[in-house]
Amino acid sequence: MTPHRIIIDTDPGIDDAMAILLAMADPRIELMGLTTIFGNVSTARATRNALWLTELAHHPCPVAAGARHPLMRPPQPHPDFVHGVEGFGAEPAPAPAAAPDPRGAARFLCETVAAHPGEITIIAVGPLTNLAEALALDPAIARGVKGVIVMGGALRVPGNVTPHAEANIWHDPEAAAAVFSATWPMTLVGLDVTEAVTGTAADFAAIARAAPRAGGFLDRAVQFYFAFHQQAHDLEGCHMHDPTAVIALTDPALFRMHETAVEVRTEGAEIGRTVEGGRGPRLRACIGVDSDAVMQVYVATLSNGRLP
Ligand code: BDR
Ligand code: CA
Repeated sequence: MTPHRIIIDTDPGIDDAMAILLAMADPRIELMGLTTIFGNVSTARATRNALWLTELAHHPCPVAAGARHPLMRPPQPHPDFVHGVEGFGAEPAPAPAAAPDPRGAARFLCETVAAHPGEITIIAVGPLTNLAEALALDPAIARGVKGVIVMGGALRVPGNVTPHAEANIWHDPEAAAAVFSATWPMTLVGLDVTEAVTGTAADFAAIARAAPRAGGFLDRAVQFYFAFHQQAHDLEGCHMHDPTAVIALTDPALFRMHETAVEVRTEGAEIGRTVEGGRGPRLRACIGVDSDAVMQVYVATLSNGRLP
């Protein structure tokens, strides 16, 4: 079977690292590149962290640095209480040897999609500024892309930054509105499903045993994320936001999806809220998930011997 060719747009970030290492380990995926964005950390830090992950996993791929701030408003503070000051909890990310792709994220996205028409799926697991900039730079990207999967939003559950807004949408609501109103084949993987998938200490210990270098790093980094979830959600373990978006591509049968338009509130008390309905293009929204099966896929894939 031809592997899924993907680009991950990301703000690493502990669960971003989980998603990136999953994509590197899964033989059903060909990782064409990473594009970086502010959110969990600054764009400069996200770029450095993404480059470091390619070296950690011995899996070189282009890393293109993205926008440094939202489209229309000043940046929000980075949530260092969730991901740590540098993005991987208490785990340092050593300076990478490789340099970022000189094109920058929006150009990298447009040119890679144009070079492989109908083949690339973009999986966005951070704020959507780079995708909005790519649409503005070359609107043909919407026709050229095979699919767009967005980890973001909260349709039928509360937000995680405000009672209404999920973090990736809240950081740049105007960018999210542009991405949700583009006509391209989009799947939304929001808190409705990602908060239903819990990774445990036993899961990450097993991954560390199978892949001591990359899995060991993840296991050490995730301890900080566990502490946040314990304190903020009274949860033993952590929400598997970003890796769930990757599994929505490889194992869609594990999700219940329905078609709907989605609008983004860009003003007022509900800023960043995602609302089902409206006159925009329809997308596939995930509203149910087989959580245990998703975790089985996650642990089995990271333990399959392909990661060091
Ligand atoms: C999203 O926000 C970030 O903190 C996570 O990496 C994830 O992409 C969850 O709301
Ligand atoms: Ca993220």
